[in-house]
Amino acid sequence: MPDLAATHLSPPFVRTIALMNQKGGVGKTTTTVNLAAGIAQAGRRTLVIDLDPQAHASLHLGVDPATLPAHTDGRARSIYDLLHDPSLDPGPALHAVNDSLSVIPAETDLAALETELSELPPAERTTRLRAILDRLRGQFEFILIDCPPSLGVLTLNGLVAAREVIIPMQAHFLALQGVSKLLETVQRVGQSVNPSLTVTGVILCMHDPASAHVKEVVADLISFFEQTRSSAADVPWKGARVLRPPVRRNIKLAECPSFGQTIFQYAPFAPGALDYKALADSLVAEWDGFIGAARASRSASGDGLTPTIPPRRAAPSATEAGA
Ligand SMILES: Nc1ncnc2c1ncn2[C@@H]1O[C@H](COP(=O)(O)OP(=O)(O)O)[C@@H](O)[C@H]1O
Ligand SMILES: [Mg+2]
Repeated sequence: MPDLAATHLSPPFVRTIALMNQKGGVGKTTTTVNLAAGIAQAGRRTLVIDLDPQAHASLHLGVDPATLPAHTDGRARSIYDLLHDPSLDPGPALHAVNDSLSVIPAETDLAALETELSELPPAERTTRLRAILDRLRGQFEFILIDCPPSLGVLTLNGLVAAREVIIPMQAHFLALQGVSKLLETVQRVGQSVNPSLTVTGVILCMHDPASAHVKEVVADLISFFEQTRSSAADVPWKGARVLRPPVRRNIKLAECPSFGQTIFQYAPFAPGALDYKALADSLVAEWDGFIGAARASRSASGDGLTPTIPPRRAAPSATEAGA
């Protein structure tokens, strides 16, 4: 279990997760959208932030950036507007998918914004998304951020705004190498602007459990996380684990974006829906456990405000059994 207590310190409690991997095509967007939809199905108010100029998460959720209202009335309509002008009210940029799920869509102009943000003073360059989320406090319980496939300034904004990182990846040898680069970036952000950032773990996407190579890579990942846990190193991935279940390769997951639908709308009984629902339910249950413990320790401490921070806990090894 990640060190949730140290990462979500004050009410209203919000679980803010950046889905990040600098490699493209690994399952970030599919995971962000369908995990968010699964969490929303559990009745939790959930927001997807689309930080990728390709706007795939927006399209997947049925919001086409090409059909957003014209840029004339000075109201925010996308994450682009909000990052460009942090004084704007984020409300009009929220697009409701259903009662529990909303998205702040991307626009292709986000790519130009990346350059614009890079020219800001360092203190402001990576903190604009965090300021936007602060203005949405209390409206959502889960916020999932779909990062672009790079380690540029948009992804850095995601890492500064989030409290947790989840890494969607395919279990291939070269993907493992990419993960160490990614962890370095998370550590850098942790040491500078966002000390409470932790890596919750890896979600295995397009998973093929029959492949010997895949089994080997998963075993390597599990042993890497176990070694980190038992070492003295205090790194953001100290409590990281391979999240269960892996998401099987399932053509329905590749089909549903073209209908602007989540897997739960498009094929609710497909393996992809079952896998994302199981992942979503386990994240919700883990979160409820944290909230319950935080509330109990707040009432025990009597001040009603400051939760006692329990020590960092190791992930239960049962969640890592089997590849
Ligand atoms: N479990 C899966 N089974 C089959 N296709 C998948 C699965 N996960 C993702 N895909 C497909 O793989 C491609 C890349 O996934 P995507 O989520 O867009 O990756 P990223 O956001 O990392 O670039 C997409 O066409 C997507 O529909
Ligand atoms: Mg994507």
